[in-house]
Amino acid sequence: MSQQFQHDVLVIGSGAAGLSLALTLPAHLRIAVLSKGDLSNGSTFWAQGGVAAVLDDTDTVQSHVEDTLNAGGGLCNEEAVRFTVEHSREAIQWLIDQGVPFTRGEQADTEESGFEFHLTREGGHSHRRIIHAADATGAAIFKTLLDQARQRPNIQLLDQCAAIDLITEPRLGLEGNRCLGAYVLNRRSGEVDTYAARFTILASGGAAKVYLYTSNPDGACGDGIAMAWRSGCRVANLEFNQFHPTCLYHPQAKSFLITEALRGEGAYLKLPNGERFMPRFDERAELAPRDIVARAIDHEMKRLGIDCVYLDITHKSPEFIKAHFPTVYERCLEFSIDITRQPIPVVPAAHYTCGGVIVDSQGRTDVPGLYAIGETSFTGLHGANRMASNSLLECFVYARSAADHIEAQLGEVAMPVNLPAWDASQVTDSDEDVIIAHNWDELRRFMWDYVGIVRTSKRLQRAQHRVRLLLDEIDEFYSNYKVSRDLIELRNLAQVAELMIRSAMERKESRGLHYTLDYPDMLPEALDTILVPTNHVG
Ligand code: FUM
Repeated sequence: MSQQFQHDVLVIGSGAAGLSLALTLPAHLRIAVLSKGDLSNGSTFWAQGGVAAVLDDTDTVQSHVEDTLNAGGGLCNEEAVRFTVEHSREAIQWLIDQGVPFTRGEQADTEESGFEFHLTREGGHSHRRIIHAADATGAAIFKTLLDQARQRPNIQLLDQCAAIDLITEPRLGLEGNRCLGAYVLNRRSGEVDTYAARFTILASGGAAKVYLYTSNPDGACGDGIAMAWRSGCRVANLEFNQFHPTCLYHPQAKSFLITEALRGEGAYLKLPNGERFMPRFDERAELAPRDIVARAIDHEMKRLGIDCVYLDITHKSPEFIKAHFPTVYERCLEFSIDITRQPIPVVPAAHYTCGGVIVDSQGRTDVPGLYAIGETSFTGLHGANRMASNSLLECFVYARSAADHIEAQLGEVAMPVNLPAWDASQVTDSDEDVIIAHNWDELRRFMWDYVGIVRTSKRLQRAQHRVRLLLDEIDEFYSNYKVSRDLIELRNLAQVAELMIRSAMERKESRGLHYTLDYPDMLPEALDTILVPTNHVG
């Protein structure tokens, strides 16, 4: 039997953004935090590098702002950048107060910097400003926040609960445009439950799983972006998909990232013959922003017909390597690569969705009562290329500002009542699941081939043609068969892919992460690509 639930706040997503928001809200609110798989399945858990912030006496807000604007290819919203960076110290203090075990600095470093924790460097940053927990920062943050959330009786943590669609007033044929909650598939019971909420938060991460090769976990399907779009929210800049330059190249090493902090601590990128090639592409060499490094690697791989390049940190001492990069060291060793003695084979892979659901500085979307935070959202911080480790910072800063806004609205928003149950009367059990598996593979393959690091108008047209066929097929399937997690994800992934392709086709220039051979130059004016839904039913 399907069930009805009521919460003050419904948070869809259990990563850094969702958990921080839940923990920041007043303790008397009833909060549900949903995860469509295990609670730890999101991208946060896998983040290695750290959180960028202005922390030591020798760094400045202005410097962090300028680096972010430079990396963003002229497309960052300066107000959003300044807002985020100005709140960075406070965000880190909050994490420290929650108990996140950040790596401490050596005495000599801390005396010089005036800050007790170790700060590393990553591409695009002109200063050491990445606070981290060795090379497993996301896991340390996630475990700490989850632990805190578990101690809060007002926070219900619900795993295996996959949101299907938002419930809005237009969807129910009511006047107004407010979000009233969501329909959620309980994967244990197989039933679709109705979650009524005064405030709903999309914190479900990005959509890098749209590509065949990605550093992201399996759940990164753009669920929040697709649900928001179907409910009438505008989205922006979805053509900017960040490819992380260095993922482990090994047939069994699915998705394993080699953190950029290796390059921050001096690792070199090399060709098979040992030649260091990045200085030929940018004066910042290995520490150029990611778009430049990923494109350089792609260029060299295509030029030489090689399967990978190599990341070499063997000139550092084994003690240093093992102390700073224990996760990378152990994981590579499982594949018989000893990174203290051998260079690491690496390739670029899809990593981060810079665009997303348009929000203001309090995380509010176009639909009242609906917020988006973290990778799902578009705040204007990242512009055409996100600078490393700014994304976790964005999660914490906007989680707080959204929580503050919700708290200020509490007196004005009543609990939605009498929401209709999910109607499954017209659907049956699927006898053709092969369609889901086939479409999933086809989508990710053509996105990789046609909407990847280097694009052309013709490739984008091909991709658009194919995604439209897939969307029709998926719609038909969705109308006739019971929902499953695979179907929910495929439907969302195909929707977001279509938005990405459409955005890429609208941009008639090369800028940041969007590089097309047909328009290799950058236009004088930097404009966001904003898509507006026209036929949503809420
Ligand atoms: O390379 C990394 O550790 C990733 C950092 C990031 O994506 O911000």
